[in-house]
Amino acid sequence: MVKKTRVLTGITTSGVPHIGNLAGAILPAIEASQNKNAESFLFLADYHSLIKNNDPKLTHTSSFEIAACWLACGLDPEEVIFYRQSDIPHIMELTWILGCLTSKGLLNRAHAYKAAIAENKKEDPDKGITMGLFNYPVLMAADILIFNADKVPVGQDQKQHVEMTRDIALRFNHHYGEVFTIPDVSIEENSGTLPGIDGKKMSKSYKNVIPIFLNTDDLRKRIMKIKTDSKEPGEPKDIDESSIFNIYRAFATKKQSEELAHKYKEGLAWGEAKELLFELLEEKIGPLRQNYEMFIEDRKGLERILHSGAEKALDVSTPIINEVRHAVGIRGFED
Ligand code: TRP
Repeated sequence: MVKKTRVLTGITTSGVPHIGNLAGAILPAIEASQNKNAESFLFLADYHSLIKNNDPKLTHTSSFEIAACWLACGLDPEEVIFYRQSDIPHIMELTWILGCLTSKGLLNRAHAYKAAIAENKKEDPDKGITMGLFNYPVLMAADILIFNADKVPVGQDQKQHVEMTRDIALRFNHHYGEVFTIPDVSIEENSGTLPGIDGKKMSKSYKNVIPIFLNTDDLRKRIMKIKTDSKEPGEPKDIDESSIFNIYRAFATKKQSEELAHKYKEGLAWGEAKELLFELLEEKIGPLRQNYEMFIEDRKGLERILHSGAEKALDVSTPIINEVRHAVGIRGFED
């Protein structure tokens, strides 16, 4: 039997995703996880969320809301090893070990850290910067290396972290012997590029998102707020410039998109275009919303799913951490 490619990625648990994440990241990742030649690991990066916030309630609720969201969108926990980072203590242990051979100079070059320093200008470059932010790439390396992942699909913004993971793993292997697989990064080119309701890229920080799980009325209201140009009904409209069209296209079949493009040429009114987008999204998201409500109300069930994922993940991480401990000289006196 050919060895399956081990594909691993993490989701930082802060805030519930929007339809840009759904089209650009969640649905493609779920589809990729159905590939029979791959063994998928997907986890809730709850310790990463502490880097960004120190609100216990947000950390806690985000974690189960995001778990419910991914399951509602079709993630099959029988096909994918789906777990919580905090259920795998080996990750924390490996973070320390890797930190002890990672040069500070490497971490000085991390984009997230550099951006935080740059914001502080001259007064005090370290103001508000925690060791959590500084060590973020080491934690991420541990997430990946503890399972000897072969491939890590991430957005462009995370590419550097995977490159650092490779550097750290090479250094470890060079010094202590071949323990780790050197992971490849795979970049999701078109992830997260839907326009928001103001026409800028849909992003939580621009407050222009359409959340996935709005109720029907709020979904309609939100869609009616999408900014358009001032073309009158009857005037032909440009599809490329239109947020409505671009969002529609991400969820529609090819045929549906062509039909809408045709209507744009014929000059349909913006109000009608919004109505068509609403109908399509309601059709696609409505069933997911019902699933979501079911999962969110069954915390015990969610806990059970994540527990069983953690058990599978621990079966993989246990021999690897044992090998790591042995390699660095942390072992019983009689070994
Ligand atoms: N830091 C990543 C993000 O913000 C999430 C993440 C954490 C991750 N650990 C990972 C992604 C390991 C891939 C592999 O998107």
